Amino acid sequence: MEPYDGVVSQYTAFAEEAGDASPCFAEWGFGVAGDPEVLAWVDALPGLKKQPNLVFAAARFHGVPAPGPYAGLREALLGDDGSIRATIMARSTQTNEAGRLATLLPAFALAVPAGPVALLEVGASAGLNLYPDRWGYEWSTSAGPRTLGPEPRLGCLVVGDAPLPTTLPEVGWRGGIDLNPLSVTDPDDVAWLELLVWPEEDDRRERLRHAVEIARRDPPRLVRGNLLDELPALVAEAASYGEVLVFHSAVAAYLTTEDRARMREMLLGLVADRTCHWVSNEAVGVFPELAAPEPPSWRFQLTVDGTAVGFTHGHGHELTWL
Ligand SMILES: C[S@@+](CC[C@H](N)C(=O)[O-])C[C@H]1O[C@@H](n2cnc3c(N)ncnc32)[C@H](O)[C@@H]1O
Repeated sequence: MEPYDGVVSQYTAFAEEAGDASPCFAEWGFGVAGDPEVLAWVDALPGLKKQPNLVFAAARFHGVPAPGPYAGLREALLGDDGSIRATIMARSTQTNEAGRLATLLPAFALAVPAGPVALLEVGASAGLNLYPDRWGYEWSTSAGPRTLGPEPRLGCLVVGDAPLPTTLPEVGWRGGIDLNPLSVTDPDDVAWLELLVWPEEDDRRERLRHAVEIARRDPPRLVRGNLLDELPALVAEAASYGEVLVFHSAVAAYLTTEDRARMREMLLGLVADRTCHWVSNEAVGVFPELAAPEPPSWRFQLTVDGTAVGFTHGHGHELTWL
């Protein structure tokens, strides 16, 4: 085994994923993967702190231009006086992507077709996905475009016979849990959220800004803590306001295998005794027990009450319904 093998594969995979969406991050990812000095710097970070998007966002937070050449990143990391490392240690990848709502809404509608819904998001980051009723949607289907609600609309390509809703949900309550809730009224938190968006993705940055505006008008109730500890009490609180729908996206991957199993058992238990419905949108393989028979090369799998219903693009651009 070569030194830094794990970091080399992590940064190579990230560079390949960034591809055309972010030529800058593709260059930075391949740059780190082939640079023994920078690999040593990254490898000295603990576990999850080695994540490319976290390291790159922290470097940008301290002024490294992006888009910009790999040399800028290299110079900043190797000359770091401890500030970039401190940001990496203090922050984490809390990317909050409202675009995912275009893929989540059909699952929400399947779980709670009518009446007020009490929306509880675990791993909510800043809670930007708690406002599905304040966006419009444009789903491109084989039968042509299907729109719902006002502009701006979240766009999504739909393959298969997804149960696309014809009305916006009636949200009776919205709340979230996060280990470190970000605040839409804190400029540093909002700046951090922007830096988690890849440099060339102007459309995502624009969507993020709109999502922050929506949330600022009516900031969400976010509880700080581990979802495994806080979930039961918050489900009980939400129940007075409508049918409770617990959901999460891009969260379970951050849990240990044992905690994922606890999370799954807890939610399946709450579903079985009809305390709530459950929508999960997580990377394929995170909950292998809930897998559909033939997972394609899509990044996320969508399940409703523990049953696989579709596959989604990680940022919400596409939905394949099973
Ligand atoms: C990548 S972000 C996703 C945010 C949001 N769900 C979305 O789709 O835009 C993952 C979030 O999960 C939170 N998180 C990770 N483990 C958690 C846990 N055990 N309990 C609560 N929140 C957790 C992180 O703090 C982070 O804000």
